[in-house]
Amino acid sequence: MKNTFIGSKIEDGKEVSYNLNSLTQHAAVLGTTGSGKTVMCKVLIEEALAAGIPVIAIDPKGDIGGLGIISKTFDFRPFVSSPEKTQKLYLSNFQNLNNSNLNKLSQIKPKIFTPKSSIGAQISLVPELTAPDGFKEELEKNPSISAGLIDPLSESICQLAGLSLNYEKAKSLISSIILYNWNLGQDLTIESLISQIIKPSFENVGMLSLEDFLKEADRLKIASSINLILSSPSKQAWKAGEKVNVKKMFEPGNLSIFDLRYTGSTEDKQYAVEQILQEIYRFLLHKGGTDKLKYILYIDELAGLLPPPPSSPPCKKSLETLIRQARAFGLGILLATQNPGDIDYKILGNIGTRFIGKLRTENDMDKVATAIGISLSTLKQALLTFKTGDFFYNNSVENKSLKIHSRWLYSYHSGPLKETEIRWVNNPQTRPVVGNLLELPSKESSRETFRNSFPENYALKILNKLKEQTKEYSDKTKFLIEDSPSREYVPYLSITIEPKPFKKKSFSSLGPYIFDLTNKSKLNENSLKSGNWKSIKKYNYKIVSPKRSIKKSIYQAIGNSQINLKRRLYQSKVTDVVDEEKDNVITSNYNYMKEELISAKRILTEKSFRGENKIIKILEANTKKMNSIKNRVRVIKAGRLVRKIFGNKRLSDKTKRIKKMERTIVKLRKKGKLIKQRIKKHKQALREKTSVLEGKLYQKSHTLTKSHTYNPSRKDIIVHANLFLVPKEKTIY
Ligand SMILES: Nc1ncnc2c1ncn2[C@@H]1O[C@H](COP(=O)(O)OP(=O)(O)OP(=O)(O)O)[C@@H](O)[C@H]1O
Ligand SMILES: [Mg+2]
Repeated sequence: MKNTFIGSKIEDGKEVSYNLNSLTQHAAVLGTTGSGKTVMCKVLIEEALAAGIPVIAIDPKGDIGGLGIISKTFDFRPFVSSPEKTQKLYLSNFQNLNNSNLNKLSQIKPKIFTPKSSIGAQISLVPELTAPDGFKEELEKNPSISAGLIDPLSESICQLAGLSLNYEKAKSLISSIILYNWNLGQDLTIESLISQIIKPSFENVGMLSLEDFLKEADRLKIASSINLILSSPSKQAWKAGEKVNVKKMFEPGNLSIFDLRYTGSTEDKQYAVEQILQEIYRFLLHKGGTDKLKYILYIDELAGLLPPPPSSPPCKKSLETLIRQARAFGLGILLATQNPGDIDYKILGNIGTRFIGKLRTENDMDKVATAIGISLSTLKQALLTFKTGDFFYNNSVENKSLKIHSRWLYSYHSGPLKETEIRWVNNPQTRPVVGNLLELPSKESSRETFRNSFPENYALKILNKLKEQTKEYSDKTKFLIEDSPSREYVPYLSITIEPKPFKKKSFSSLGPYIFDLTNKSKLNENSLKSGNWKSIKKYNYKIVSPKRSIKKSIYQAIGNSQINLKRRLYQSKVTDVVDEEKDNVITSNYNYMKEELISAKRILTEKSFRGENKIIKILEANTKKMNSIKNRVRVIKAGRLVRKIFGNKRLSDKTKRIKKMERTIVKLRKKGKLIKQRIKKHKQALREKTSVLEGKLYQKSHTLTKSHTYNPSRKDIIVHANLFLVPKEKTIY
């Protein structure tokens, strides 16, 4: 296997290479937190992936997912906020950039699995009880597989069931049941295991009869605890998701990362690791021996997973078994830990490669020095001046000891991935921005053809210019070139304008607008659609016929699109966005209206009532006065009648008074009519005032809706400019 570049010598800065086959004897990276362990490990993993070796990584901190983010140009959009800066930073770390490694890395297939969570690919981690193929034969050849495979399995079951009573006996009984069934080539399930615990098919466990070993009542208790795996919802979470398929994960080009951040407690993480190790062990059993490196298992940060001795959870035993046996199958194990005590010193002594970074305590240094067989003072001397990324590299396979500084990574490295980022790694199509910066054709011959067909590199110039000019939008430009090197190409520029995702909602993109850069060919809508050009077929074309000045046309297209976009976004406020926020807006408007209106109306009505009451009182007084006069008139009239009958002289006087009073009554009646009119007017005014108030409030609430609208600016769009080199015979003239 070819040597690889992992860093530079601290002494003279010369490149240090590493023979990946040394990894069959495993590697450990030790160092205090922040010493650069994860970066060192990722360097080795990148080299292995570039060499086509598949990797399974166990990631307790979420730091490894970045290995799946590769860009040939270090354009890490949308993972970074300032892509150009990051790009420069990455480029500055490489004097001799290995493009072929980058090319190979960009083809790997990363997948992030998240047990007990659907953020990444959810994966089921329940103990696998089916009999491994050819178990009996394997057991005859190598009796230790029983201990390596069955004992940890029964321990996991006891753990998962949360058994505490009769733990050791239960474990031993379950082991016996599994061994009995597997020897007969029979698969087990949790259900069949439960029934066999109650009624095993054998009569003795070791020297003891079943009943003497564990009474039936105790077996029933164990069975009911294990039944919890089937019934308890919290345990069910382990079951959800696809099954672990190590065979597939270990196909060339695959990088499978188990992100354990969502798994739960330390015990749960240990349980998860145990299941993964078991699956790997089962897979290896069928593999023939080899001395070449074929697969890698990488565990970042053992400290979070393995408690120091004397504690010994099943995953620790399984890891030790794997370290002892995996070498024969071509599985290289790469471990990182900040606590050297986590790895048994005998095991550390057996690990082929060690990278020792800054260590915290003399005790740690002492442990490491003893394990790798060098004097404490030598190690101390070496570690004294160490900075982040410096390691004492000790390779017992090649008998090398050097001080090195690890190289920087090709992949994106920046702390734990966020949830959306995990989804993007697993499904790049969902990224808000996909693509690369300017990429030159990879094939020399294609580039040649390209140059020949455009002596002045005309298309490239335009593209560069466009890149510069549209920077404020986005500068995404790329070449798509068909593989066959013998063809001549006609360049088309395609511009697609895409709004940035807006408030959880994304709008479909505009365009692409296609420009024929040669200006010679006539394009029509179908010419590109019907072509066999794959990437072109994906889109719905909107052809903008070529203008004399390509720059002008491009700007026109961008300008038009921006207007369209604004309109579309604005309209969407009325339809979609309001749709989304409709309830909120309407409810808040309604509440606003209701509260404001009710209180304003109340004030208005009260005021109006006060006024009205005054008038009504006048009217009442008026009516009272009128009535009393009417009464008096009636009394006087009656008096007059009596006097008329009995011959009173002063009759004319009375008639005069009556007449006068009757005139007053007419006056009062008139006044009453006027007052009634006033009241009517008053009521009308109140109605008018209320409706004005309602109108005002409506307007106010409408402004409230407006504040929910969105006015897109230049920054809100992304311009994708792609240069397509379409084989000449595919274009229509
Ligand atoms: N070779 C290097 N060149 C430049 N910077 C480095 C190098 N190695 C590590 N660093 C810097 O140190 C930081 C910490 O590195 P890394 O995450 O590998 O540490 P670690 O030992 O794994 O820490 P932890 O114990 O917290 O996981 C990196 O993010 C990076 O900024
Ligand atoms: Mg780390």
